[in-house]
Amino acid sequence: MELLEATADNLRRAGECIAQGGLVAFPTETVYGLGADAFDAKAVARIFEAKARPSFDPLIVHIASISQVEKIAEIPGPSASALMQALWPGPLTLVMPKRSWVPDIVTSGLDTVALRLPAHAVARAIIVHSRTAVAAPSANPFGYISPTLARHVQLGLGDKVDLIVNGGACSIGLESTVLDMTFEPPRLLRPGGTSIEAIEAVIGPIDRGGAGLESAPGRPPASPGLLDSHYAPRTPLYLVESSLFAQARPSGRDAALITSATSGAILESLAGRFSLARFLSPSGSLIEVAAGLFAALHELDSGGFDEIWAELAGGQGLGPAINDRLYKASRK
Ligand code: TXA
Ligand code: MG
Repeated sequence: MELLEATADNLRRAGECIAQGGLVAFPTETVYGLGADAFDAKAVARIFEAKARPSFDPLIVHIASISQVEKIAEIPGPSASALMQALWPGPLTLVMPKRSWVPDIVTSGLDTVALRLPAHAVARAIIVHSRTAVAAPSANPFGYISPTLARHVQLGLGDKVDLIVNGGACSIGLESTVLDMTFEPPRLLRPGGTSIEAIEAVIGPIDRGGAGLESAPGRPPASPGLLDSHYAPRTPLYLVESSLFAQARPSGRDAALITSATSGAILESLAGRFSLARFLSPSGSLIEVAAGLFAALHELDSGGFDEIWAELAGGQGLGPAINDRLYKASRK
């Protein structure tokens, strides 16, 4: 494995590596991805092996321009086109009927494919240089916390990848929103970096029912990525609603806290109960909470604590995506 800075030469090298069947970890605005040529089934198989990812969990295909869509998928209707125009590039993944030549290993045998046009300049340059479309899941071992720094990828996957391109911290910090465009209205499969409000402002009401499966225990996942346990630290993680903070009672052993709280009252009520607190957003901004969440989980998980406690977000904007990750990270 080689760690490269994101220079023009190195971006070309990374693209060529993908074109030759290699595995390249690269930054996107959401999380780091682990990319391979989407049309090279053998290279894609290496992604599953590197992540120890079950083969029933399909990958997202990343493209660098809207003109690539029709080579991979059939655009199912005007809503899909409208969302691409309005919200791409960005943290929104659209599931659409796939073309027959997209390898089954990419889609886990489904007749649909998930497509995303990332906003990160490094990701797009690498895709352009690869001259193909890039299948890429998050660059973490399956089930573990997603990577928002090159170092997270190094620690998690190390020599299982050919190149890691360092692009600094991911600005959004949570995966893309996944929307299944083969349903009418489109169905939310995973809340993420594009808020439901932003989507509904473009195409009207969507079906929110598929996502947040923590609310539907025992149901088979509509999208395999909605498995109950995911994004999980090794340290036990407990969740607490902001309004119930005063009652957060760690078991008395060494506990760390992730919170957006800034109010003096809350801080005082916490004093003595946690040996460390990470304040993700001094201003209470969900954008800042999302951007710092996975890095805080990584940090605290390697900090030798017995417990991690995290504050749940409200229901607006990125709140559902933050809570989805927290719920899944807290499941074992
Ligand atoms: O932000 C992101 O989406 C990041 C960056 C790297 O782009 N990628 C990412 O990939 O989060 P991954 O593999 O960790 O999550 C992909 C999600 C999974 O929940 C998977 O089940 C779902 O997309 N998915 C992929 N193809 C699908 C399909 N054809 N139908 C339904 N769900 C699909
Ligand atoms: Mg993932």
